Amino acid sequence: MEARINIIGAIVLFLSAFLVSSATGEDLAFCLSSSGVKNFTTYYTTGDYLRLLNISIMNLRYAKPFVNKPVAVVLPGNKEQVAAAIRCSTSASWTIRLRSGGHSYEGLSSRDDGPFVLIDLMNMNRVSVDLDAETAWAEGGATLGEIYYAIATSSKRYGFSGGMCATVSRSGSPSDMAKLLHKWQTTANNVLEDDYFLQLAALPGSSSNQSAELISVFFSGLYLGPKASALAITDRVFPELNLTAQECAETTWAEGLIIIRGDNAVRTVEDLKNRFSYQKMFTKTKFDYVETPIPLSALESALKMLTRQPRASVLFDVHGGAMYRIPSDATPFPHRAGTLYGIEYFVDWPQEEDADYGVRYMKGLRRLYEFMTPFVSKNPRRSYVNSVDLDLGAIDWTDEKQLCRFDAVEVARAWGEKYFLGNYDRLVRAKTLIDPNNVFRHPQSIPPFPTKTLTRTGH
Ligand SMILES: *[C@@H]1O[C@H](CO)[C@@H](O)[C@H](O)[C@H]1NC(C)=O
Ligand SMILES: *[C@@H]1O[C@H](CO)[C@@H](O)[C@H](O)[C@H]1NC(C)=O
Ligand SMILES: *[C@@H]1O[C@H](CO)[C@@H](O)[C@H](O)[C@H]1NC(C)=O
Ligand SMILES: *[C@@H]1O[C@H](CO)[C@@H](O)[C@H](O)[C@H]1NC(C)=O
Repeated sequence: MEARINIIGAIVLFLSAFLVSSATGEDLAFCLSSSGVKNFTTYYTTGDYLRLLNISIMNLRYAKPFVNKPVAVVLPGNKEQVAAAIRCSTSASWTIRLRSGGHSYEGLSSRDDGPFVLIDLMNMNRVSVDLDAETAWAEGGATLGEIYYAIATSSKRYGFSGGMCATVSRSGSPSDMAKLLHKWQTTANNVLEDDYFLQLAALPGSSSNQSAELISVFFSGLYLGPKASALAITDRVFPELNLTAQECAETTWAEGLIIIRGDNAVRTVEDLKNRFSYQKMFTKTKFDYVETPIPLSALESALKMLTRQPRASVLFDVHGGAMYRIPSDATPFPHRAGTLYGIEYFVDWPQEEDADYGVRYMKGLRRLYEFMTPFVSKNPRRSYVNSVDLDLGAIDWTDEKQLCRFDAVEVARAWGEKYFLGNYDRLVRAKTLIDPNNVFRHPQSIPPFPTKTLTRTGH
């Protein structure tokens, strides 16, 4: 095996099996210690290794014993230590993975097919809120809950929109629930008020009748204003929901998020800052965007398919409001004006079902995604980068032979344009400028253009 390294300013540019066997965990440990990085554990020293590795693997599919493990888990405490950790890893020719909350649906922050070092930012979770400037600064390892907590304890008036889950529920036959969905998709975006939103999730079954072919739909809404106005708007635009005053709560912004989340482990504002309160499951997710309302008959067929997927759910994620007014090319996230809503297909299952059903659950989810093809965005079929899906394609950066043969920028276009539309080419240019040697990479990362000064390109 050929082993050629190009050292430009102490950065080793690629890996090979030969180099890997010559670099050791001890070398890395020595480099880290002498650079002031104190908190790390290597594969060769037992200690806290498995605990620190597992702690933020949210999708248990990537915690399984056969999944390739990092050479070391490094927990820098400040940005100088992050730089040192990157320098020590790349100069010993290890690939790096950076992990914040660990929620990547495909586990991309915790795994790599080749030898790698995991740099976990959980100790860099400081958040400072400046109410006068109406800004907050959060370090890269802060979770959404930690950010919400910091804002909620600084002010009762301010908030920051991030992710959330479901609340008010209705259940019935697939055809009745399809009618509700059909009405929602034309309603939700007609409201188009910045301070009102309503999204929903559909699940098989109902709380009172698991055996029947039923669908439950969970609505979660948020309105910035008094409860009476929220009810009045909902009655006007969506009377079919029969929303009652008892189903609405007037709360502070952070308490509202907790209600919407509906998670038993998070009941108080204080609980928001516990980053390890999540229940871990085995999961698979896929994502679509919808530009024109889906016909009632298609929604009904999709919900019928859903009744046969006991562990799946489908989240309908409303767009519109202020998102519409930002041009598609103003930020990397392009799915704005013209997007009615996003659909997240999700399945999860616990440890005890993994061996028998895991593969079957994922197949069922992929069939539902296939069925939806005619009804969702096309050319490209768009997707959401935070719902990263390796079914869309992947590059193996350790396969040097293949990397020499193909043009990574064109290969990655297959998924890059699904996530970023016309912004993909600009992201490639930015990547080339910021990280020409592709130090920060994963199977669906944006590739840089090949750099002429390197003898090796495309990685
Ligand atoms: C490293 O950080 C983790 C996470 O905060 C902590 O649990 C552990 O005790 C730290 N170890 C050392 C040696 O400081
Ligand atoms: C880490 O996860 C693996 C796989 O689930 C498990 O075998 C191991 O016991 C876990 N270790 C710790 C310390 O949690
Ligand atoms: C469950 O639903 C089915 C069909 O809607 C109905 O026939 C059955 O009586 C229900 N069972 C219970 C226990 O509610
Ligand atoms: C709303 O109420 C009407 C009249 O009682 C009923 O027919 C309809 O099924 C209800 N809708 C939902 C979603 O429960």
